[in-house]
Order: sequence, then structure tokens, then C-alpha cells
Amino acid sequence: MNPIVRVSHLEKYFGHLHVLKDLSFEVNPAEVSCIIGPSGSGKSTLLRCINFLEQPDYGEIEVAGVVVEAQGKGAAYRRRIRDLRLKTGMVFQSFNLFPHMTALDNVIEGPVTVKGIKRAEAVEIGMHNLEKVGLIDKRDEYPSRLSGGQQQRVAIARAITMQPQVMLFDEPTSSLDPELIGEVLGVMQQLVEEGMTMLIVTHEIGFARDFAHRIMFMDEGRFAEIGPPAQIFENPQDERTRAFLSAFASFEPRNHA
Ligand SMILES: Nc1ncnc2c1ncn2[C@@H]1O[C@H](COP(=O)(O)OP(=O)(O)OP(=O)(O)O)[C@@H](O)[C@H]1O
Ligand SMILES: [Mg+2]
Repeated sequence: MNPIVRVSHLEKYFGHLHVLKDLSFEVNPAEVSCIIGPSGSGKSTLLRCINFLEQPDYGEIEVAGVVVEAQGKGAAYRRRIRDLRLKTGMVFQSFNLFPHMTALDNVIEGPVTVKGIKRAEAVEIGMHNLEKVGLIDKRDEYPSRLSGGQQQRVAIARAITMQPQVMLFDEPTSSLDPELIGEVLGVMQQLVEEGMTMLIVTHEIGFARDFAHRIMFMDEGRFAEIGPPAQIFENPQDERTRAFLSAFASFEPRNHA
């Protein structure tokens, strides 16, 4: 099986701050990877470099056959960045919906304006996806009249309506009240079951344990440890992983108890 994402020797600096340090990894189609790690370790920056929301300094990113070097110039280079972005969907901690548009208009805006899909067709796909996230009855509501959980589900519907090959999630439940987290994780679980390739930065250790194929523990711009959930959560090899997980009382690693 060919990987659908390849990150090669990725480096990112903010001024003198070295945030991502020679990161290389691959993601297979339908693979779900959860990225965990302390605040400031570079998790968001990694996701943002994968779709060039941040420009990396060195290395190369490949998503679904589109290869883009960290640095480049000219129209052809910019076109490849655009192509790569079309292969990825992203969901942020803050839902980032357009406040002056209804749920449905939020969902179809990208396909119509960015991809040039006919409105009627975009509506069809968008309605299907609003149905999938359980919000078909809210299609004409504005974001201000939706709960945080509902807004985030619209944001997921919006991202998947672009029909990306890979979904990037950056702490999608971190700004939600506890009682609303489950409905968003439920939608993400559905995407896992449909075989969506996903890279998820999350503090939801329970979700990561149950649905990720792989946990990537990040510390100071490097992966301290990568492995299946059973290894990372029950028998972490790296001292930093252990220290981090011990903050989650119910997931105290066994050999640490
Ligand atoms: N645009 C920016 N300009 C300058 N420094 C930045 C910028 N974005 C992030 N940083 C710095 O880069 C480092 C990594 O930040 P990043 O947001 O990737 O961490 P994170 O692992 O996502 O943290 P958190 O768990 O708090 O979201 C931090 O030291 C942060 O202050
Ligand atoms: Mg972050």
C-alpha cells in the first residue's frame, strides 16, 4: 500500500525558535493517527505545515500524490500548494464558520467558490453531509443560533464537503463544554469507520485509545515515541510520554502505577 501522506525532513522555525525538528513520517490510507504532547511542542504547527497554512523551512510534504517542497517560487509552485490544500480538510479548535451565512451556505461555500462545483450539486453533497453530522434540520440556521457542538459538526460537514483525501483536526473538542464533546467525537468516529485518513491533535485520550491506529507523542518538535495505542498508553517506553500521561489520572501507565 502506498502512503497517502509523506512528510520528509520537515523543519520549521519561528525566528530563532526551532519548532519542528527534522520530522519524517508516512500515513497510510484510512489510517488514523492521534498526535499528543505538551503545550508548545509543535502539534498545531505540524498540521499547519502539512497544508501550508504555515510555510515550512526545509523538507517536503506529499499528500495524495501532490508533492510540495518547503520552499519554492513561481506560479507552478503556488498551484501545487493549492492542489495539496484541496486534498486536505482541516477542522480547528475554534469553529471558524462564517457568521453571516447559514449552516448550509457555510458547507457549500468552499465547493462552489474554490472548486467551482455547480451550486445544485454542492447543495446535494452538502445536505448529505449535514445529514451525516445530524444537522439537516439546522441547515437554515446561522452559527450564532447553534451550540458549540453543533457549530463544530457544521465545520466538519463543511470540510468533508470539499471531498478531501485526508482530514486534519486540531483539538476539535477543546473549546467545547464537556457535555458537547461526545457529539463531535461521535461524528469523528463515523469518519474513522468510513475509512477517512485522519491526523488528529487531541487531548481526548479515550478517543485516541479506542479509535487511533497509531499515537504520535510529540515533545519539543520531535516525536519522542510513536506506536499503537496499547503501547503508548499501557507501556510507554519514553520517560516524557510517561510523565505526560500521568497527568491523565485514569490513564496512568501500568508500569508506572
Ligand atoms: N505564528 C507564530 N509565531 C511565532 N511563534 C509561534 C507561532 N505559532 C506557534 N509559535 C510557537 O511555536 C511553538 C509551537 O507552537 P504550537 O502552537 O505548534 O504548539 P502546540 O503543540 O500546538 O501547543 P498547544 O498544545 O498549546 O496548542 C510554541 O513555542 C509557540 O509559541
Ligand atoms: Mg496547538
